[in-house]
Amino acid sequence: KSVAVIFGGKSVEHKISINSAKNVAEFLDKSAFETIFIYISTDGKWYLTDQINGDYHESDQLLLILDPTRKGFYHINGGKSILPDIVFPVLHGTDGEDGSIQGMLEAVNLPFVGTGVLGSSVSMNKLYSKRLLEAANIPVSNYISYSYNEKHLISYREITDRLQSPFMAKAANLGSSVGVHKVTSEEKFKHALEDIFKFDKTVIFEEFVEGRELECAVMGNDDPQATFPGEIVVSSDYEFYTYDAKYLDPEAAKLQIPAQVSEEIAANIQKLSIQSYKALACEDFARVDLFLKKNGEIIINEINTIPGFTNSSMFPMMWKERGLEFTPLLTKLIELALE
Ligand code: DAL
Ligand code: MG
Repeated sequence: KSVAVIFGGKSVEHKISINSAKNVAEFLDKSAFETIFIYISTDGKWYLTDQINGDYHESDQLLLILDPTRKGFYHINGGKSILPDIVFPVLHGTDGEDGSIQGMLEAVNLPFVGTGVLGSSVSMNKLYSKRLLEAANIPVSNYISYSYNEKHLISYREITDRLQSPFMAKAANLGSSVGVHKVTSEEKFKHALEDIFKFDKTVIFEEFVEGRELECAVMGNDDPQATFPGEIVVSSDYEFYTYDAKYLDPEAAKLQIPAQVSEEIAANIQKLSIQSYKALACEDFARVDLFLKKNGEIIINEINTIPGFTNSSMFPMMWKERGLEFTPLLTKLIELALE
């Protein structure tokens, strides 16, 4: 089978996607799959490349073939078609993880790994995913949301009255904690809003959940399976698990896999994670992020439909702890998508 790994992309997580794709390139089973790599530049052009670092030649630009009976890409300069059996989008965030690329691939009948249009777009959106989780009786943190054109209605006083201080302010549609702020004062509040509306049309304010931060990896379609959870212990130098703590400072977070929790709590987390995965119409795989409060209560924070595969990403590590190494994990994801 031939697999086209797509990476890079227009989102603020462009660099993270490159790091994820490097690992996919290294660990994908070369004896089972013929692999090509397609890089999407920050301005949204597609290139055939063998450099998994963001380098490309202008002459290697690709166009998507819009004829759904051909299923593939056209290399303009080479004058040839590239027709993979399956696409593996290793893209994070806007225009990659949010259903837009998925819709494009569905429209031309190109099979791909991961969640389809509906699940991708609702999971990417922190407001709509919460609404759907609530509707499925899955515990989420209290929240208030506004769109940019309701900006004049946003008041610090009202939010602290309803959510208490501190609270979280988040861009509704981003990943990797870009546009995420812990608000402890009115001044920080103003700064957070300014930053968020640079990236996004919707802001969501969430109650600050005091608790341990855990993640659970889920995989499958008819009968999804969840791993034992892992825990992220963020150093007290950081207010929360920020972008820098995730990717730039290797000392910032300790990943504890498996998490030191009882079998009973782990089973509850697995159950809620699978329920969340189903409630958000996820397919093939996803990573569920959650909080565990002192009293044992679990709060689902969000779902990532294309979780990171970087060296500090938990999805592959949690499967490894369950005995599934990275290479067979990637094979399994491709098989699930082709089922
Ligand atoms: N958005 C990043 C890549 C993650 O969830 O792992
Ligand atoms: Mg995320």
